[in-house]
Amino acid sequence: MFCRIFRWLPFFVGIALAASAPQWRSRSIYQILTDRFARSDGSTTAPCDLGFQGFCGGTWSGITQKLDYIQGMGFDAIWISTVVEQVSNPARAYHGYCAKNIYALNGNFGSAEDLKGLAKALHDRNMFLMLDVVANHMAFDGNARSIDYSSFNPFNNRSFFHDVCFITDWTNVTQIQQCWLGGEVDPLPDLNTTSPIVRDEWRTWVNSLVANYSIDGIRVDTAQNIEQSFFPSFGKAAGRYPAYYTSVWFFNNTRATSGNIVYDFYNTSIFCKDTSLVGEFMENHDKPRFASYTDDMSLVKNNVAYVMLKDGIPIIYQGQEQHYKGGDDPFNREAIWFSGYNTDAELYKFTKQMNAIRKMAINKASFSVTPFLTSMAKVVYYDAHNVAFAKGPPDAMILTMINNNGAHAANYTLQVATSRFTPRTPVVELLTCTQMMVGSQGSLTLTVTGGTPLVLYPYNLLQGTGWCGS
Ligand SMILES: *[C@@H]1O[C@H](CO)[C@@H](O)[C@H](O)[C@H]1NC(C)=O
Ligand SMILES: *[C@@H]1O[C@H](CO)[C@@H](O)[C@H](O)[C@H]1NC(C)=O
Ligand SMILES: *[C@@H]1O[C@H](CO)[C@@H](O)[C@H](O)[C@H]1NC(C)=O
Ligand SMILES: *[C@@H]1O[C@H](CO)[C@@H](O)[C@H](O)[C@H]1NC(C)=O
Ligand SMILES: *[C@@H]1O[C@H](CO)[C@@H](O)[C@H](O)[C@H]1NC(C)=O
Ligand SMILES: *[C@@H]1O[C@H](CO)[C@@H](O)[C@H](O)[C@H]1NC(C)=O
Ligand SMILES: *[C@@H]1O[C@H](CO)[C@@H](O)[C@H](O)[C@H]1NC(C)=O
Repeated sequence: MFCRIFRWLPFFVGIALAASAPQWRSRSIYQILTDRFARSDGSTTAPCDLGFQGFCGGTWSGITQKLDYIQGMGFDAIWISTVVEQVSNPARAYHGYCAKNIYALNGNFGSAEDLKGLAKALHDRNMFLMLDVVANHMAFDGNARSIDYSSFNPFNNRSFFHDVCFITDWTNVTQIQQCWLGGEVDPLPDLNTTSPIVRDEWRTWVNSLVANYSIDGIRVDTAQNIEQSFFPSFGKAAGRYPAYYTSVWFFNNTRATSGNIVYDFYNTSIFCKDTSLVGEFMENHDKPRFASYTDDMSLVKNNVAYVMLKDGIPIIYQGQEQHYKGGDDPFNREAIWFSGYNTDAELYKFTKQMNAIRKMAINKASFSVTPFLTSMAKVVYYDAHNVAFAKGPPDAMILTMINNNGAHAANYTLQVATSRFTPRTPVVELLTCTQMMVGSQGSLTLTVTGGTPLVLYPYNLLQGTGWCGS
C-alpha cells in the first residue's frame, strides 16, 4: 500500500528555501512537458507532428506568457520538465530525461534569466514551481562499453556508477536498483545512489538549484530505480501507479465493476495515516491518454472528478483539458498549441469547476476542527457501477458520486442511506445547481443523468461564493 508520494520536497535534508509539505497540500498541479507547451514567439506551426521525436520549440518564456491559461483553470502550481543540459541526440533530449551536465541548463528551453523569470511570474501569481529531477542515471549517446565518463558533470568518473548490466527482470529489486535502463546502444548509465559521494553531489546540486531559481518543489523521476535510503525524510516509496491502474481500468470500461475502487479507499483508510501528499493523476507523459481508450465525455469527467476530489494533490497533464487522444509515447506528447489554448473546451471548463470546488471546500472547512485536506475520503455508497465518497467534516464536506455507465446510459435514481451530511439540511449538486434536503438519517436521493458525476455540498456554505447564483 502506497500512502504518500515521497517525491515532494523537501526530500533532501536541509533544503530551506523550497516550500513545505503543508504549503503543497492544498495545491493542484498542472504538468507541463516544456518542449510541447508554448513557444517564445507564440507560433503554432510545424514541425511538430504527433509522432515527432525531437525539439518542437517550447520554452520557459513560452510558459511564462501562457500562465493565464493555466491559472484560469484554477491551478496554483506547475510541474515542468527537467531543466538541465542533455545529450545531443534530440530524440533523446527533448523530454529531458537524458542528462549530461546537471550544472548547465537545457539551452533549447531558454536562458537562466528565462527560468528565473518563469519562477518570478509564478510567484507573483501565488503559484508554485515544481521541477522534474532525474537522480537515478545520466545518459550517453553511443555504446555502453565505451562510455566517456569525463563527459558528465559532476559524475565524471566511472566510480560513481554501477557496473554495466541491463534490467531484464522487473521483479528483481536488486536489478531494478543496480542495473541500467536503456540498451547497449544509447544507455542510461546508472548512478550508485548509495555512494555517499554521489548523495553529497546531489544534495549540493539540488540546494543550489532551488536557491538559484527559486524552485518550490522537486519530483524525482524513475524513483523505483533508486535505493529507498536515498530518500531519508520520507517513508516507503513507490508512487501511486496501483491507484492509477485501478481507476483507469474502471472508468475506461462500462462493463468493469467498482470492487477495486472501493477496495482502494478501504485499504487506504486501514494502512495510511496521511494521504494528503499523494500525487493523484489519470494521465502523464508515459501513459496512453485516457481518451485513447474511450472518448466518452461522461467517463472522462468521472475520472477527472475522482482524481481531483479524493485525497491527495491532483495532477493534470497538459492536454487532458483539451481531450487529447494520443496513445503511447510519443503520441501522448502532442503540443498544446495545436488546441489554440481553447478556454471554452468542455474539459477545460470542467477541470476549472473541479479546482474551484476543491478550493472552496478547503477554505470553507477552515473553521472546522477537522481540516478538509487531512481528513480521509470514505465510501458512503457503492454498487457495481456507482461509488459515492465523502471527504471533509460533515458540516463542510463534499460528497462525490462517480459512475462508469457512460454518456449513453439511461438515467437512474439511487438511494444513499447514510451520506454523512448533517440530517435535515439542504445540499446542492454543484454541477447542475439542483437543491435537495438531506433525510432524517442523513439519506439522499440522487439522480444520475447522462452518466455524469455528481458533486454535493452544503447549501449554507455557498453564500458569497458565486456558486449556483449565490
Ligand atoms: C576515478 O576514480 C578512481 C577511484 O576512486 C580513481 O582511482 C581515479 O583516479 C579516478 N579517475 C579520474 C579520471 O578522476
Ligand atoms: C537479481 O538480480 C541480481 C543482479 O543481476 C542477481 O545477482 C540475482 O541473482 C537476482 N536474483 C534473483 C532472485 O533472480
Ligand atoms: C556503491 O557505492 C558504495 C560506497 O562507495 C559501495 O560500497 C558499493 O559497493 C557500491 N555499490 C555497487 C552496487 O556498486
Ligand atoms: C547556482 O549558482 C551558483 C553561483 O553562481 C553556482 O556556483 C552554482 O553552480 C549554481 N547551481 C546550479 C545548480 O546551477
Ligand atoms: C482500457 O480498456 C481497454 C479496452 O477494454 C483495455 O485494452 C485497456 O487495457 C484498458 N486500459 C487500462 C489502463 O486499464
Ligand atoms: C487491498 O488490500 C488487499 C489486501 O492486502 C489486496 O489483496 C488488494 O489487492 C488491495 N486492493 C487494492 C485495490 O488496493
Ligand atoms: C436524462 O435526463 C436528461 C435531463 O432530464 C434528458 O435530457 C435526457 O434525455 C435523459 N436521457 C435519457 C436516456 O432518457
